[in-house]
Amino acid sequence: MLEIKPVTIEDLPIIEKLGKLIWNHNFISLISQEQIDYMFARGYTYEAMKKEIESNKVSYIKLLDIKELIGFGAYGATNNTGEIQVYKLYIHPDHQYKGLVNNLLQYIENQAAQSHYKYLTLSVNKNNKAAISSYLKYGFAIEKSLVIDIGNGFVMDDYLMKKPVSR
Ligand SMILES: CC(C)(COP(=O)(O)OP(=O)(O)OC[C@H]1O[C@@H](n2cnc3c(N)ncnc32)[C@H](O)[C@@H]1OP(=O)(O)O)[C@@H](O)C(=O)NCCC(=O)NCCS
Repeated sequence: MLEIKPVTIEDLPIIEKLGKLIWNHNFISLISQEQIDYMFARGYTYEAMKKEIESNKVSYIKLLDIKELIGFGAYGATNNTGEIQVYKLYIHPDHQYKGLVNNLLQYIENQAAQSHYKYLTLSVNKNNKAAISSYLKYGFAIEKSLVIDIGNGFVMDDYLMKKPVSR
């Protein structure tokens, strides 16, 4: 039985562990190990995620299969009126490619609809073909190209994707 629940600070060690597993499993074909380590340290450690949750600007959710944590997501309002950005979507490698991410997306979209947001956005590496194909399937469209300097000589070479919130 699948369930989605908000992530608490107590969940963060296991979220960090799952995040590390997925980053090293999925992203080594997309970016260098140095960039993986740099980006992970900035956004996926216990301390980094705790700070985000405590800021109340980012909400984290977890996907459970019975009691096992098999995925997580993060989202929050941006400075653009009516927009919720989906910051994180991660499914355990043993459970990828079965459409499970749609559970996280639907939960986020429901939250967005209840609070009268108009659209969801997300940014995805241009070479992350599985993610792009998945998001297109669930109603996102490519809005524009984004090349973001993230420091230390690294860039994020992404597409911004956007989806209207259904009511
Ligand atoms: C990207 C991710 C969130 C998508 O979730 P998911 O539940 O696996 O997605 P779906 O099952 O809906 O889509 C899978 C897509 O992957 C591709 N795919 C399917 N089987 C695959 C395989 N064995 N190997 C690689 N890609 C495959 C297909 O393009 C498929 O899309 P299609 O159904 O339109 O053909 C998830 O795979 C994941 O966590 N990946 C690693 C982390 C990541 O990239 N996060 C997103 C950052 S923006």
